[in-house]
Amino acid sequence: MTPAMPSQLFYGGDYNPEQWGREVWLEDMRLMREAGVNLVTLAVFSWATLEVADGVYEFGWLDEIIGLLHENGISVDLATATASPPAWLTIANPEVLPVNYQGTRLSHGGRQGYCISSPIYKAKSGQLAAKLAERYGKHPAIKMWHVNNEYGCHNPICYCDVSALAWREWLKKRYSNLEELNLAWGTNFWSQRYHSWDEVLPPRETPTGTYPNPSMTLDYRRFSNDQILDLYLNERDIIRGFDSVNPITTNFMSMKHTSVLDYWQWAKEVDFVATDHYLMADDERNYIDLAFQADLTRGFAGGKPWLLMEHSTSAVNWQERNIPKAQGEMLANSLSHVARGSNGAMFFQWRQSISGSEKFHSAMVPHTGEKSRIWHNVKELGAKLQELKALAGSETEIAEVAMIFDYQSWWALSQRNLPSTSISYPELAHDWYRALWELGLRVDFVAPGSSAAELSNYKVVLAPMLYLLNTDDEQALIDYSKAGGSLVVSYFTGISNEVDAVKLGGYGGSLVRDHLGVFVDEFAPVRLGEKVSLSNGMSGSEWSQFATTSSADELASYVDGLALGSTALAKSASGRDWYVGTRLDDASNQQLFASLAAELQLEQLGGKGVEVINRGGLQLSIDHNTNRVSWKANV
Ligand code: GLA
Repeated sequence: MTPAMPSQLFYGGDYNPEQWGREVWLEDMRLMREAGVNLVTLAVFSWATLEVADGVYEFGWLDEIIGLLHENGISVDLATATASPPAWLTIANPEVLPVNYQGTRLSHGGRQGYCISSPIYKAKSGQLAAKLAERYGKHPAIKMWHVNNEYGCHNPICYCDVSALAWREWLKKRYSNLEELNLAWGTNFWSQRYHSWDEVLPPRETPTGTYPNPSMTLDYRRFSNDQILDLYLNERDIIRGFDSVNPITTNFMSMKHTSVLDYWQWAKEVDFVATDHYLMADDERNYIDLAFQADLTRGFAGGKPWLLMEHSTSAVNWQERNIPKAQGEMLANSLSHVARGSNGAMFFQWRQSISGSEKFHSAMVPHTGEKSRIWHNVKELGAKLQELKALAGSETEIAEVAMIFDYQSWWALSQRNLPSTSISYPELAHDWYRALWELGLRVDFVAPGSSAAELSNYKVVLAPMLYLLNTDDEQALIDYSKAGGSLVVSYFTGISNEVDAVKLGGYGGSLVRDHLGVFVDEFAPVRLGEKVSLSNGMSGSEWSQFATTSSADELASYVDGLALGSTALAKSASGRDWYVGTRLDDASNQQLFASLAAELQLEQLGGKGVEVINRGGLQLSIDHNTNRVSWKANV
């Protein structure tokens, strides 16, 4: 049995005491107690202050601060400090630094400056994790381990020669021989056929206007994900050797445009799921994106509680315009995460830095100190979490709607040479989710490849742009539907198999062509800024297609544009499955999902700017029109 997350609502954030003098540490303890902080994440970027030269460790300051926190009743989420290697390491071993797509070796000075396939980085990070686990594994202040930090945030892919060697070994395990690889990647195209493993390179930049082989590029994303996971597993298993009591995790990045890792795979390897989420200030309804990411994270956690490891008290420092949070917005954000399954609310960071590139990023203790608006809000949130502490360990109520979210389809759809560069996997998934949110319909996220039995927990399963679909996964969707479930399937679903080879005989394979009964003949992307109108009054953009129904019932056709007269919206002969052939606008999506909710008699709670979520014995309600939060017993 692996250790579980302690059943407690956590409150606190990243704590970087090495940026401050001892007198500030004492003030920190007082303020943390005042705000109700019970957990801090220590040492995330401390490698250079803990290992000052190769093999020379200085743990004195960390001993002291962990002791001080313990005396003050504050627990520690101890990071392994391996997120950013120190200068001495990469100066002595320049090959540890990553190489980009264009072949340039990057420099030390930012963060995460390491190649994900570097054996030197792996050995040195493992050594540091061992030292920390040995020294602090049994310290009573330590509650959990925080391996590295936001893996792959800045260095998701490396194109160096060391990576090339690891890549070939990875490929030899995936493909039993070179001929199998040639077949999978379709290398007879453009003279790409390989005659020896040594000829296979990372998919580096190619002559202008051409791109590396798409199947190869997709495999390189899979390889990179596995290399990073291997680094995590190395540190995790080393820590486990010294500490079998405290849970070990790492913080994921649940962000709308972050697709670096396949978190469905990662979730199996952490003792509990932890994630970071930041609002995009330019998005006026960014609380819906927050809800999407929180629900997705709960999906990774299999419905169990998870932990919001970072969010911000107010503005960040890395967007074009860093807009602060409105009064009440922080509380609304934090409690939305808690309602959707987080066992607490943690922030980046405790005290706002005065130097370095994050000095204008908000924190729990801002530059202006205790007289600030933010500090007032921080104390208020601490008090609310105290009132809600009985929620710890409880689960958010299961939804009636499930959405399949697939990082690997996203990777395949992030490449060039698709029918249109305007199509966006996360945007379509968010469009559908937004409509459901506004209608008060709650969503659980499920992994691609879920079995028909797993899907049968839901009345309806959504598959927006599930581009890669292998035969087994396709069959699971068909079986789920045949057993009485309802599917909603979008355009550009089921186009290719797992090696990104197109399925023939009507786009969408047997799911769309045979099961749903829609024959998609040819794609007709819509020009930028133009719209297509549908015969039922709806409208869409970006995509249309030449399509007809075979067994399906046509609900709407295009009344203008290139695909005039073609099927735009259809329902399968069973009357339970929907096919959506364009990117519907917001009003049309709401119309579609409202009729689906009525037909399937789905429960609607809240809506129109108000979210209502049941967790534990409570019904939490968050009104984003006013930023007011409330809760009552859920009877
Ligand atoms: C990420 C990192 C933090 C910090 C924040 C700023 O989440 O993990 O160290 O840089 O971004 O938003």
